Amino acid sequence: MKVIRSVKELTETMVQLRNENKSIGLVPTMGALHAGHLSLMERARKENDVVVASVFVNPTQFNNPTDLATYPRTEEADCRLMTDAGVDYAFIPSVEEVYPEPDTRVFDLGEVAAVMEGPMRPGHFNGVAQIVSKLFAMVTPTRAYFGEKDFQQIAVIRRMVQLENFEIEIVDCPIKRHDDGLAMSSRNVRLTPDQRKVAPAIHRILAESTGLKHTLAVEELKRKVIAEIDAQPFMKTEYFEIVHPLTMQPVASWSDTDIPVGCITVYCGDVRLIDNIKYA
Ligand code: PAF
Repeated sequence: MKVIRSVKELTETMVQLRNENKSIGLVPTMGALHAGHLSLMERARKENDVVVASVFVNPTQFNNPTDLATYPRTEEADCRLMTDAGVDYAFIPSVEEVYPEPDTRVFDLGEVAAVMEGPMRPGHFNGVAQIVSKLFAMVTPTRAYFGEKDFQQIAVIRRMVQLENFEIEIVDCPIKRHDDGLAMSSRNVRLTPDQRKVAPAIHRILAESTGLKHTLAVEELKRKVIAEIDAQPFMKTEYFEIVHPLTMQPVASWSDTDIPVGCITVYCGDVRLIDNIKYA
């Protein structure tokens, strides 16, 4: 695996691969890699001639300076994992390399960014659109891979792709979970041992709630899930919405769409955990 740190080297390498008609799979990450990221890389490996992964803790998508400062950074281990996952090129730039001057672009992300994470984390999705659009322009991938844990993020990226007319296939990949059900996340390492023990309750309660789709109205089910999660030690639900899988708009009734998705954010102590479940 070759590590590339400069934009110039990245773009030159990608132009050459394009000229050779190679398909390129891109896996954008912020590092602190876990099995969830690796599943994206392995899928990219199967579906493309060349795999590029980026490792960049993007400052413009953090609306909370403490979250940015405490975000885990584990470059050496990441490089080993990427090598094992069959990544050909790891793009690991500095902040100055990616943002030689401030990125002042404001994307019209519309309704998909107006709910849930949008109002909770002002500027977050615009920052995601900034970095992902830069990566797309630099790498010009054939396909780009994103995990469904950040379900709303995928909708935002699809919107950005439409706005910018990128010819890139966005591939969404299922959530990877620990054996006890907790969704894999780079933030899980910040949980204390006691918090880590109760954190799987999020997925357990969500999974149990799918069986109640035919007995409870949407609002009733939402209230029940929030009450059960908030009854767990350390846990406080920030929001739980049941939304249309493409527009991200909350549904009023189960019949509004075939597969509504329940999207949740829970504080476990001061660690913000996010998860979702399909009400198929
Ligand atoms: O999902 C993430 O890790 C980040 O939001 C992404 C897509 C790599 C952009 O920084």
